Amino acid sequence: MTTLVTGGAGFISTTLIGRLLGRGDKVLALDNFSRGSRDNIAGFIGHDHFAFAQVDLSDLIAFRAAVSAHGGMGPVTEVWHLAANSDIPAGIADARVDLRDTFVTTFNTLEIMQEIGAKRLYFASSSAVYGDLGDKLLTEDIGPLFPISAYGAMKLASEAAISAAAEKFLDVALLFRFPNVVGVPATHGVLLDFMRRLRQDRCVLQVLGDGTQQKAYLHVSDLVDAMLLVQARSTARLDAFNIGPTDLGVTVRAIAAETVAVAAPGAELRFGQGNKGWIGDVPRFAYSTAKLQALGWRPSMDSLTAIRRAIREIAAQECVT
Ligand SMILES: NC(=O)c1ccc[n+]([C@@H]2O[C@H](COP(=O)([O-])OP(=O)(O)OC[C@H]3O[C@@H](n4cnc5c(N)ncnc54)[C@H](O)[C@@H]3O)[C@@H](O)[C@H]2O)c1
Repeated sequence: MTTLVTGGAGFISTTLIGRLLGRGDKVLALDNFSRGSRDNIAGFIGHDHFAFAQVDLSDLIAFRAAVSAHGGMGPVTEVWHLAANSDIPAGIADARVDLRDTFVTTFNTLEIMQEIGAKRLYFASSSAVYGDLGDKLLTEDIGPLFPISAYGAMKLASEAAISAAAEKFLDVALLFRFPNVVGVPATHGVLLDFMRRLRQDRCVLQVLGDGTQQKAYLHVSDLVDAMLLVQARSTARLDAFNIGPTDLGVTVRAIAAETVAVAAPGAELRFGQGNKGWIGDVPRFAYSTAKLQALGWRPSMDSLTAIRRAIREIAAQECVT
């Protein structure tokens, strides 16, 4: 029995695959390297229970061929669907990027699952499905859900397509709504952006927006722990879970200061205008993780501890000291 991981060469998949192999799964990872890389999976290549194929999952015929080429690994029984566009500026410039990489990859994943008889799906969704609900506590059943970015819209559309597929043929469909996730191998995100800016200019760090944006951050190790715990303990056929720390998060201003202290002490912080870093940025949100906690999960790090650990990890990844 094989576990299929889409977006398998990306940031979060790397930690997930390590854990899946560690528990004895055979893993087939698929990725087109639009953001992930061969380096991210180098540690798994040669592992008896690991196979990888480079494929664009928005191309159904290519997707089908990649899965059938690895039929010798045994039937796929479980799918972790993590492929998506994580290049936010690309999605703002052209919403078709999110349509293709975030929604069509989900649609095709469901098509393939039905064809091969795989019935358990675990989906990497996002807090972006909630849109901007101000200070309201974001519980999983709050509404209406009006996303304010194409990315959020395509994640919500993906959840809707999965819900319909659950009615038709899935035995298990768990939707994990992630906060901001940090750690390595970083492929995108505010910490990597700051680190690369400081590598280019050690004197000034330009921050998008006025720095008051405040978000919850979770270390990737805690995120993967939480997903595996929900997989083991949830008895639902179709359900959504917010995953996040229990605090309200850290401001971008504080993250900038923490990054400068490690990567370029003394650099000047310069801020932009307004409380949004980009179109579709949700400036702050209050995430309820009560449902997740009711299953017995607690994060090992709060947002600030996760940020501090990830800054050190990304500084090492980017060779910045
Ligand atoms: N990192 C976060 O803070 C965060 C927050 C919320 C949700 N998520 C979701 O978690 C999942 C993993 O995110 P990540 O941070 O590891 O990002 P990532 O970009 O590192 O991983 C996504 C992977 O999908 C691949 N991919 C994209 N389009 C593809 C396509 N058409 N065909 C094949 N592969 C394709 C990319 O190459 C990449 O390796 C994504 O679905 C993302 O939307 C992440």
